[in-house]
Amino acid sequence: MAISEEAGASVTEAQIAVHWREEDYIYPSPRFIGQANAPDPAIRERFSEERFPECYRDYADLLDWDTYWHTTLDTSHPPFWKWFAGGRLNACYNCVDRHLAKRANQAAFIWVPEPEADLVQNVTYQELYRRVNEFAALLQGFAGVKPGDRVTLHMPMVPDLPVAMLACARIGAIHSEVFAGFSGTACGGRMADSGSKVLVTMDSYYRDGKILDHKAKADEAVAAAKEHGMEVEKVLVFRRRSGQYLSQTPMVDGRDFFVDEVIADYRRKVVEPVSMPAEAPLFLMYTSGTTGKPKGAQHSTGGYLSYVAGTSKFYLDIHPEDTYWCFADIGWITGHSYIVYGPLALGTTSVMYEGAPAYPDAGRPWRIAEQLGVGIFHTAPTTIRMLRKLGPDEPAKYDYHFKLMVTVGEPIEPEVWRWYYDVVGKREAVVVDTWWMTETGGFMGATLPALEGMKPGSCGPGALGIYPVLYDEEGKVVEAGTGRAGNICIRNPWPGRMLTIWGQPERFVQTYYSKYCHDKQSTDWHDWPFLCGDGAMQAMDGYYRILGRIDDVINVAGHRLGTKELESAVLTVPEIAEAAAVPVIDETRGRVVEMYISLKPGLSPSPDIENKAKAAIEREIGKVARPKNVWIVPDMPKTRSGKIMRRVIAGISNFADVGDITTLANPEVVEAIRHQVYAEKNARGEAPRPLTEKELEEIKAFGRAE
Ligand code: PRX
Repeated sequence: MAISEEAGASVTEAQIAVHWREEDYIYPSPRFIGQANAPDPAIRERFSEERFPECYRDYADLLDWDTYWHTTLDTSHPPFWKWFAGGRLNACYNCVDRHLAKRANQAAFIWVPEPEADLVQNVTYQELYRRVNEFAALLQGFAGVKPGDRVTLHMPMVPDLPVAMLACARIGAIHSEVFAGFSGTACGGRMADSGSKVLVTMDSYYRDGKILDHKAKADEAVAAAKEHGMEVEKVLVFRRRSGQYLSQTPMVDGRDFFVDEVIADYRRKVVEPVSMPAEAPLFLMYTSGTTGKPKGAQHSTGGYLSYVAGTSKFYLDIHPEDTYWCFADIGWITGHSYIVYGPLALGTTSVMYEGAPAYPDAGRPWRIAEQLGVGIFHTAPTTIRMLRKLGPDEPAKYDYHFKLMVTVGEPIEPEVWRWYYDVVGKREAVVVDTWWMTETGGFMGATLPALEGMKPGSCGPGALGIYPVLYDEEGKVVEAGTGRAGNICIRNPWPGRMLTIWGQPERFVQTYYSKYCHDKQSTDWHDWPFLCGDGAMQAMDGYYRILGRIDDVINVAGHRLGTKELESAVLTVPEIAEAAAVPVIDETRGRVVEMYISLKPGLSPSPDIENKAKAAIEREIGKVARPKNVWIVPDMPKTRSGKIMRRVIAGISNFADVGDITTLANPEVVEAIRHQVYAEKNARGEAPRPLTEKELEEIKAFGRAE
């Protein structure tokens, strides 16, 4: 990740000084503090560095262990730390069975289908127990799944998804849920990588008023897995409306089975939860980074579950009697940690919503909140921006009262934060800005809601027991309050960290530790800071402001997309010679992708090639990644060594300064591209808007990570 030669000067990304106004603190109400799970400042003491790693006993003790552990943190194989070594437990037991004695009839999930006329469904803990057991029995008996096997789920937001996840956990199998919006090809690639022979999917689901044919993707997934040399044995198909098949694709004999038919043989079956070692993998979650292929973040059972239970308790302030709504998709890490595992471990009631945020109108979320008495609301800036744009006055029309609201997934602009606080939260709710990532399992930076003031645009200090540090490119510490940005790392291990990258332990060490490891032989964790992959700066009060990824990842509406993945998708089109993806600042989605392509010699630009490029991205990755514009340019701006200078085209796409281009091999092409792109953007009505200083810095730094 050294700075590439095109940067020209000695200044590095981690050293860029960023200037902005410090926001004032906003404090929680006495009413919130009076009921909070963490009202006592002594909690910071309990999680002080001197008490590390034993402090995390507090989290692990929220769980029921079959065998209590003997070693809190085993550092003998750096950096493959083992938490709660010697302990055994079952994640499904902790999320379901143990709540039956007290709250069998309490809803675990309240499922809200997208069509407003459809009935809301309560899934009680008792019903969840029954459904999980039956599906676990089916997985074992019908699909032959054994402990340690991987099972891929490609499921939309329906209760069958957490049922399938918990069923896997119950029998010690490793689930790998692929976001339903991803394409069949993307799903198949992940199946092959994880070696999973069983695919659990659904015929269809509702999104934005339409019923989508989802089973079609299963056929593509099986074909894609086969191309990678993997034979999928069974495709288990849930049906969105029982008894009806809402997909156009035929069921393949001997391979595809309707779950509602097969399950008849497993009615009322009870499967004993398999007691798993603390470090046994619970699930894989594929995510993007610098290189083309997504990596399977492998999360543990004991450490992960402890960490999400603890952070759900202290940061989301979940009490069992709360009604909590995390408006994210379970297909991402947020949904795994903070819809399924954390809230269920605490025995609360969660709302699960199937569809699009503003369907049929921007009042929908607030109607749901009013009808169901939601007290805790959790969503991403992209959704907040969209709801603000479409219905700025809608929240006031509904009688709901949140005590706490969460923002996650992208930096939130202070002005969007204020609308969230003033209008959505009615100035009654605490806002917790939670910064973290797929790899970390749970929150890394956030304010303790009753104890630490909110500061719009900053996530806050390191979470309990988390000790972040900012390093510059040379590994020198960037001090707080200097106005300089650095690469944010976590100095210490924590229980929620992924165990490794599935099947690629060297890549795990390389990606997260090679840059700042002090001594590769050392078994002292102090020598192994974890590179998070974000640029950040720290104010004098210890609060962090996250600037965004340093590794060529574009965060589109909270979805993490690797530029290399986007580019390799486009390069499957035979006419295309070169491709470069850049982020464009977008009012609602945060960032969107624009793709620059150049063609093979002798070919001329055509709308047909442009469409082929878009279709390739939809096929290889999914609709979420569809670029806003595809620009077919005569040539890419390149360094003398032939590297594409992404920051130059990113500058053009954002109507920003392109910076110094004197080191280019072909500087003349810049003006030609600018002319072409500006003219077409004008014709499409994409007017420039002034960028903030922070946005300008991001554009300037883009593409420097190579
Ligand atoms: O850049 C950070 C941004 O999202 C990235 C992680 O993406 P992913 O692994 O998909 O997980 C998203 C849900 C945790 C981070 O590297 N990010 C996440 N939360 C925040 C954020 N940026 C600023 N503020 C946040 N609260």
